[in-house]
Amino acid sequence: MDLSCISYRMSIVIGPSVNMLASRVASRLNSELIHIEYKIFPDGESYIRYIDDVKGKNLVIIHSCDAPQDKRWMELFFMVKTAKDLGCGRLTAIVPYFGYSRQDRRILHGEAVGSEVIIRLLEAVGVDYFMTFDIHNVSTLSHFKIKAQELSAIPSMGEYLLHLNLNEPFVMTPDDEAPWRAEKVAEIISGDWGYLKKDRDPVTGEITTYFKELPVRDRDVVIVDDVISTGKTMLNAIRIVREQGARNIYVICVFPLLSEDSAKEIFRAGAKAIYGTDCVESKFSVISVAPIIADALEKWDIS
Ligand code: R5P
Repeated sequence: MDLSCISYRMSIVIGPSVNMLASRVASRLNSELIHIEYKIFPDGESYIRYIDDVKGKNLVIIHSCDAPQDKRWMELFFMVKTAKDLGCGRLTAIVPYFGYSRQDRRILHGEAVGSEVIIRLLEAVGVDYFMTFDIHNVSTLSHFKIKAQELSAIPSMGEYLLHLNLNEPFVMTPDDEAPWRAEKVAEIISGDWGYLKKDRDPVTGEITTYFKELPVRDRDVVIVDDVISTGKTMLNAIRIVREQGARNIYVICVFPLLSEDSAKEIFRAGAKAIYGTDCVESKFSVISVAPIIADALEKWDIS
């Protein structure tokens, strides 16, 4: 049977990253899955090939760009441009983790603003719509000329914590960049909230977190962040609340990048658990954002 004439509402492309998340979204939407063959040549170059036909189909590519970021972005550009060459319909790129989003401004003279470069490339290869989660700086999205939307995993993270029945929870962020995250989670789990203040040296990357008295004694403390990468931000915050008599300390983030031994160190510092979402795949990705993506796609009506 020639399937090329059938018009699908939307088909989900399973890329090389976040396969589980893409499958979960497809099954929620009852969408067709488009499979890709991908490999890396001996010299390190990426290769992709569409196995299923995409002609005339509205595609949703779900692909996170965490490490190795450069390779992940290149795979996405290949997937988008190739699908367009093959005559797909409208193409939505969902990049749950927007690698390079932390390079959102020029701090030192002469620095590249990585996130803007990525945006220009996404548009150049032919993305029609773009979605991402909890982007480091929401004003980054204003650089898009195409329709771009930020989704948030924070409410789902709050709902996940509800099941833990925490004792007099105190929710906090480890810095003052987005204290609203603590406020939102605290609202869901009926807790109090607060935040710390930190500085990062733009040259050495060294992090200084300033001591602050917080009402954490004998309480369950939740430290919420968007990204945990080296874990240094989280470690400083854990030490400050432990010193003040916190009972149990739970660490929760949208993107558990957790490079090197950061998870081990976080546990060693006294955290009881680390929870993350499947925006990136890791053994801590216990909260799925698939319902949020499925909902957003239905509301966008990109069929
Ligand atoms: C702020 O800069 C972010 O919200 C995170 O706190 C930060 O990126 C975490 O990085 P790391 O784990 O390397 O300290």
